[in-house]
Amino acid sequence: MRSAGWGPASGRKEGYELSIEGRKDDHIDICLTEKVSAERNWWDDVMLTHEAIPSCDLDDVDLRTSFLGRSLEAPIIISAMTGGSKRALEYNRMMAKAAQEFGLGMGVGSQRAGIERPQYRATYEVVRDYDVPLLMGNIGAPQIVRAKDMEDAALMISSSIDMIGAHAVCLHLNYLQEVVQQEGETRAEDLIVRVKGLSSRFPIVAKETGAGLSRSSAVALRDAGIAALDVGGMSGTSFSAVESFRSKPGKERPMRLGRAFWNWGIPSPASVIFSKVGIPLIASGGIRNGLDAARGIALGADCSGMARNLLIAASKGYEDLAQEIGMVIDELKASIFLCGKDSARALKGSCAIVVGPTREYLGYEGHIDYPGTGI
Ligand SMILES: Cc1cc2nc3c(=O)[nH]c(=O)nc-3n(C[C@H](O)[C@H](O)[C@H](O)COP(=O)(O)O)c2cc1C
Repeated sequence: MRSAGWGPASGRKEGYELSIEGRKDDHIDICLTEKVSAERNWWDDVMLTHEAIPSCDLDDVDLRTSFLGRSLEAPIIISAMTGGSKRALEYNRMMAKAAQEFGLGMGVGSQRAGIERPQYRATYEVVRDYDVPLLMGNIGAPQIVRAKDMEDAALMISSSIDMIGAHAVCLHLNYLQEVVQQEGETRAEDLIVRVKGLSSRFPIVAKETGAGLSRSSAVALRDAGIAALDVGGMSGTSFSAVESFRSKPGKERPMRLGRAFWNWGIPSPASVIFSKVGIPLIASGGIRNGLDAARGIALGADCSGMARNLLIAASKGYEDLAQEIGMVIDELKASIFLCGKDSARALKGSCAIVVGPTREYLGYEGHIDYPGTGI
């Protein structure tokens, strides 16, 4: 774990415009070079039941699905990551190209920079050059709260849709990151009221970013009219960890909080179970491969989402990203085949047995029924 933050000597730029680019590039650099994952990956607690007698040929396993009315070739989402800098543009280009090539869903990173500063729009608009089957915009919940009124908030959402021709918008819930960050935006009053007002006008996916959704949050979001949930659970990228690496000398608070809250959140598999509230669901947070993606679907999600692992692959170039996604798809297909199922749709909500610490964790929520998880 690195002890000092990213001072000017590390090449970070200064000034408002440059600070947007600096922050975006910091996030990319830190996620590529530092250990920023939760200390434990909770997906290892999800076992899939092996069937010695498959139900079809491996080649005949059907991965196609539909999500939010869009047809995907496989139930994989390239989760929101970036935008707002030259490097971000290149990552968005590669992710969109891969989403087109493999027929996957994808999200761009927070579009705040593009909405507030027109010069950054191109870093998101680049995804328009590709035919992405499900393209999702991205706005932060704190921005929605900060908007002067509901119309202002609606304008933000419609701007994010128009910027990239999005089919839906992810509203990211990142209060853990905001709490840890120096001068983070921690206002949250009336958030759910605003979510309700916006959900009746736009297809919105409520998305955590590494701390997961509880049952009560999932229910509140569903009741507010949200179109889908992306659990973004604890197991993979910890934004608490990322912000601790960004802390500057003399500003010890982010480092202190970042370390204390490194493993804060709801383990991803538990969050998938909590978030089964009858609306479309994405399993995410620490998905390392196609087997983890299958685990998320077996627990009841419609799709699984990956972020940092794909960023790492893309940092070596498009060929590596395409190869990684190809492997993930192969692993997902193999998992479905070995579970004796013939499709991703058939795997949904079956074949999972939850063991170990996740089972123990769920045991404390005894009032919740966990069908299809061996509990
Ligand atoms: C470099 C980086 C930047 C991210 N930026 C955003 C963002 O702008 N908006 C968002 O909703 N999530 C963002 N995320 C969070 C991811 O979408 C995802 O929820 C989280 O990283 C957990 O997935 P993982 O463990 O597969 O990385 C970002 C993740 C990474 C790695």
